[in-house]
Amino acid sequence: MLILLPLLLLYYGARNIHCSTVHENIRDLQALLDFKQGITSDPNGALSNWTMSSHFCRWNGVKCTLTPRLRVTYLLLNGQKLSGQISSSLGNLTFLKYLVLSYNNFVGPVPLLGSLQQLLILYLNNNNLSGNIPDALARCSNLTDLDLSSNLLVGSIPPELGFLTTLKQLSFHQNHLTGVIPLGLGNITNLTVVDLSYNHLSGPIPNQFWQMPNIVWLYLDSNNLSGNIPRTLSPLPSLQQLSVTDNMLGNTLPPNIGTVLPNLQILYLAGNMFEGFILASLGSVSGLTALDLSANKFTGQIPSIFRKLSGLTYLNLEANMLEASDSAGWEFFDDLANCRSLEVLSLYANQLQGVIPNSISNVSTNLIALLMSGNNLSGIVPSSIGKFSGLIRLSLDMNHLTGTIEDWIGKLKNLQKLNLEKNNFAGTIAPSIGNLTQLSFLSLAENKFTGFLPPSLGHLQQMNNLNLSYNNIQGSIPVDFGNLKQLVILDVSLNQLGGEIPETLGQCQQLVTIRMDQNMLTGNIPTTFSNLNSLSVLNLFHNILSGPLPAYLNNLQLITKLDLSYNDFEGEIPRNSVLDNATVVSLDGNPGLCGGAIDFHMPPCQVVSRRAGLVNNLIKTLIPIFSFMSLIMLAYTIFHAKKKTSRRSHLLLFSFGRKFPKVSYKDIAHATGNFCESNLIGRGSYGSVYKGKITQAKTQVAVKVFDLEMRCADRSFISEC
Ligand SMILES: *[C@@H]1O[C@H](CO)[C@@H](O)[C@H](O)[C@H]1NC(C)=O
Ligand SMILES: *[C@@H]1O[C@H](CO)[C@@H](O)[C@H](O)[C@H]1NC(C)=O
Ligand SMILES: *[C@@H]1O[C@H](CO)[C@@H](O)[C@H](O)[C@H]1NC(C)=O
Ligand SMILES: *[C@@H]1O[C@H](CO)[C@@H](O)[C@H](O)[C@H]1NC(C)=O
Ligand SMILES: *[C@@H]1O[C@H](CO)[C@@H](O)[C@H](O)[C@H]1NC(C)=O
Ligand SMILES: *[C@@H]1O[C@H](CO)[C@@H](O)[C@H](O)[C@H]1NC(C)=O
Ligand SMILES: *[C@@H]1O[C@H](CO)[C@@H](O)[C@H](O)[C@H]1NC(C)=O
Ligand SMILES: *[C@@H]1O[C@H](CO)[C@@H](O)[C@H](O)[C@H]1NC(C)=O
Ligand SMILES: *[C@@H]1O[C@H](CO)[C@@H](O)[C@H](O)[C@H]1NC(C)=O
Ligand SMILES: *[C@@H]1O[C@H](CO)[C@@H](O)[C@H](O)[C@H]1NC(C)=O
Ligand SMILES: *[C@@H]1O[C@H](CO)[C@@H](O)[C@H](O)[C@H]1NC(C)=O
Ligand SMILES: *[C@@H]1O[C@H](CO)[C@@H](O)[C@H](O)[C@H]1NC(C)=O
Repeated sequence: MLILLPLLLLYYGARNIHCSTVHENIRDLQALLDFKQGITSDPNGALSNWTMSSHFCRWNGVKCTLTPRLRVTYLLLNGQKLSGQISSSLGNLTFLKYLVLSYNNFVGPVPLLGSLQQLLILYLNNNNLSGNIPDALARCSNLTDLDLSSNLLVGSIPPELGFLTTLKQLSFHQNHLTGVIPLGLGNITNLTVVDLSYNHLSGPIPNQFWQMPNIVWLYLDSNNLSGNIPRTLSPLPSLQQLSVTDNMLGNTLPPNIGTVLPNLQILYLAGNMFEGFILASLGSVSGLTALDLSANKFTGQIPSIFRKLSGLTYLNLEANMLEASDSAGWEFFDDLANCRSLEVLSLYANQLQGVIPNSISNVSTNLIALLMSGNNLSGIVPSSIGKFSGLIRLSLDMNHLTGTIEDWIGKLKNLQKLNLEKNNFAGTIAPSIGNLTQLSFLSLAENKFTGFLPPSLGHLQQMNNLNLSYNNIQGSIPVDFGNLKQLVILDVSLNQLGGEIPETLGQCQQLVTIRMDQNMLTGNIPTTFSNLNSLSVLNLFHNILSGPLPAYLNNLQLITKLDLSYNDFEGEIPRNSVLDNATVVSLDGNPGLCGGAIDFHMPPCQVVSRRAGLVNNLIKTLIPIFSFMSLIMLAYTIFHAKKKTSRRSHLLLFSFGRKFPKVSYKDIAHATGNFCESNLIGRGSYGSVYKGKITQAKTQVAVKVFDLEMRCADRSFISEC
C-alpha cells in the first residue's frame, strides 16, 4: 500500500491537474532519471530504490515540496562512492534548493545549473570534476553556499561570480585554478567564509577583500599571490581566521594589524617574504590561539607581546632572522608564562644565541612540541626542561649546547621524537633514556657522548630511527638492541665501539639501513643478518671484522650498498649474486680477499704459502693493536711537547702496554683535518705523512698513511714497526 500510494498520486495527477504542472513534474522525474543514467558505478546501492515502483519524492536522497505539485527541492547524495558524470538535466529541477553531491567520485564538468533561481546550497566538493568553473553559475542568483573544493578544476575564477550578492560561503580550495582573484568577489558584502587556498592564483589580494564587513574566515594560502597587505587596514572586527601562508606576499605588515583585527583567533602568515619587526600590536589580539609567522624575513628581537594572549596554543616563529643576544632578548619567555595553553613553540632556525634561560621553566607545561634547533644556543640546557613531561617532540639540534643530559632526559616520558644532534653534549647516555617508551626517533649524532650504550635502549619498542653516530661511545653494541622490532635505521658509525656485532640484531626485521662503519668491531657479520629482508644499506667499513665473507650476504636481495672495505676479511669472495655487483659492494682494503667478480680486481685465489701466511698473520695481529684499518697508519714521530704532563701522555699513547689508548679512525681524521693538504709534511713511495693533533691526548703526532694499492706497502709497514 505504501508503495502504491505515490504511483497513484502520479497517475491521478496526470489525469486531473493542470497540464503545465504535470509537465513540470514529469520534467523533474526525467531529470532524476537522466542523473541516474549518468552514474556508472554505485557500489553502496545509493540509487537502488530509484525505481518506478515508488514516487521519485521517496527515492533515497530526494526531497520534494510538500504541496501536491511535488517538485524536487533537495538532492542529497554525499559520500556514496558514486562515479560517472553529473547530468546537466539537474538544471531542470527548477525548485531545487539544496544540491549536495560531495565526497563521491564524479568526473567530467561541473553541470550547467544556470536556471536554478532557488538554489541556495551547491556542494560538489571532493570529487574529480574537471574543466572550468562555468560562468553560468552566476545566474543561480540566490546561492548562499558554493563549495567546489578538492576537484581538478582549471582556468580562472569567472568575474561574473561577483554578481552572486547573496553568497555567504565560497570555497574553491584545492583545485588547479589560475589567474587573478576577481575584484568583484570583494564586493559581496554577505561573505563570511572565503577559501581559495591550494590553487595557483596569482596577482594581488584585491583591496576589497580587506573591507568585507562580514568576513569571518579568509583562507588564501598556498597560491602564488604577490603584493602586500595594505599599510593602513580599516577595522575588520568580524575576521577570526586569516591564512595567507605560502604565497609571495611581502613588505612590512600594517602596524595597526592587531588593533584592526581585534577578534582574530588564527593568523597564519608563514612562507611569505614579510619583513621588519614582529609588531607589538599583535599583543592586543587577546583571543589569538594560533600565530604562525614562520619562514619569512622577520628581524629583531621577539617582542614581549604574549602577556595578554592567554589562549595561545600554537606559536611558530621558525625560519626567520629573529635575535636574542642578551637577557632582554629572552624576556619573551617570562611573558609566555601567561600562555597557559601553549602546546607548540617553535623557534627553530633563527639567530637566538647564548644560554637557554632558566625562565623556560615557566612556559606552559602543556607543551607537546618544543623546537629550538638551528640557532646559536650554547651552555647547559636548564635541567628544569625535565618538567615538560608532556613533550612529544623536542629538537635542540644544530646548536652549541654542552653539558650532560642525564639530569632531565629520563623525565620526558612521553617523547616520541628527540633530536639533539650536532651539539657538544657530553657525558654518558643515561640509562634512564630507556624510560621514554614512546620514543621512535632518537638522534644524538655529532656530539661528544662517551661511555657505554645502555642496554635499556632496548626497551624502546617504538624506536624507528636510532642515530648515535659521531660520538666517542665505547664498549659493545648491547644484545638488547634485538628487541627494537620497529627499527628501520640504525646508525652507530664513527664511534669507538668494539666487540662483536650482536646476533640478536637479525631479529630487527624492519631494518633498512645499518651503519656501523669506523668503529673497532670484531668477529664476522652475524649469520642472522640473512633474515634482514628489507636491508638496503649495510656500512661496516673501517672496522676489524674478519673471517671469510659470508655467502648468506647473497640473500640480501634489496641491498643497494654493502661497504665492507678496510676490514680484515679473507678468503675467496662468494660468487653469482649480490657479491658480484661492484656498484653495490665495496671490498677495498681487505688484503686477505681473493677471487670474486673481475670488477673487484682481487688477486686470484691460490694455495697460501707458509711465508705469505706468516706476513698475513703478523698484519692481522698488528692491525688490531693500532685499531684503525682503512689506511694503515703509524704515528711514528712525536713532536716536541711543551708540558711534562703531556709528555707522559705521549708515553702512554705509544707504549704497547695495557694503557695503550684506543684511537679511532675518526680521531685521526679529526687530528689531521681530514688529511688536509696543509697538514701534509711528506710523501714517499708507499704513502704520505701528515702532522696532526690528537685532542683526546693533547698530543702532536705524525701520521703515516700507507697506500695499499702499492705493492709491498704492507711489508714497508712491518719494517717500520
Ligand atoms: C529509499 O531509501 C531511503 C534510504 O534508505 C529510505 O529513506 C526511503 O524510504 C526508501 N524509499 C523507498 C520507497 O523505499
Ligand atoms: C532538461 O535538460 C536537458 C539538458 O540540459 C535539456 O536538453 C532539456 O531540454 C531539458 N528539458 C526540459 C523539459 O526543459
Ligand atoms: C581522483 O582521481 C584520482 C586518479 O586520477 C584518484 O586517485 C582519486 O582517488 C580520485 N579522487 C576521488 C575523490 O575520486
Ligand atoms: C531568487 O532570486 C530572484 C532574483 O534573481 C528573486 O526574484 C526570487 O524571489 C528569489 N527566490 C527566492 C526563493 O529567494
Ligand atoms: C545578507 O544577509 C542578510 C541576513 O542573512 C540578508 O537579510 C540580506 O538580504 C543579505 N544581503 C544580500 C545582498 O543578499
Ligand atoms: C565594487 O564596488 C564598488 C563600489 O561599491 C564599485 O565601484 C566597483 O565597480 C565594484 N567592483 C566590481 C568589480 O563590481
Ligand atoms: C608566480 O608568480 C610570478 C609573478 O608574480 C611568476 O613569475 C611565477 O612564474 C609564478 N609561479 C608559478 C608557480 O605560477
Ligand atoms: C619565570 O622564571 C624565573 C626564573 O626561573 C623566575 O624568576 C620568574 O619569577 C618567573 N616568572 C614568572 C612570571 O613566573
Ligand atoms: C654564536 O654566538 C657566539 C657567542 O655566543 C658568537 O661569538 C658567534 O659569533 C655566534 N655565531 C653566529 C653564527 O651567530
Ligand atoms: C627510569 O630508568 C631508570 C634506569 O633505567 C630506572 O632505575 C628507574 O626505575 C626508571 N624510572 C621509572 C619511573 O620508570
Ligand atoms: C645520522 O646523523 C648524521 C648527522 O646528522 C647524518 O649525517 C647521518 O646521515 C645520519 N644517519 C642516517 C643513517 O641517517
Ligand atoms: C648492480 O646493482 C645496481 C644497483 O642496485 C643495479 O642497478 C645493477 O643492475 C646491478 N648490476 C648487476 C650486474 O646485477
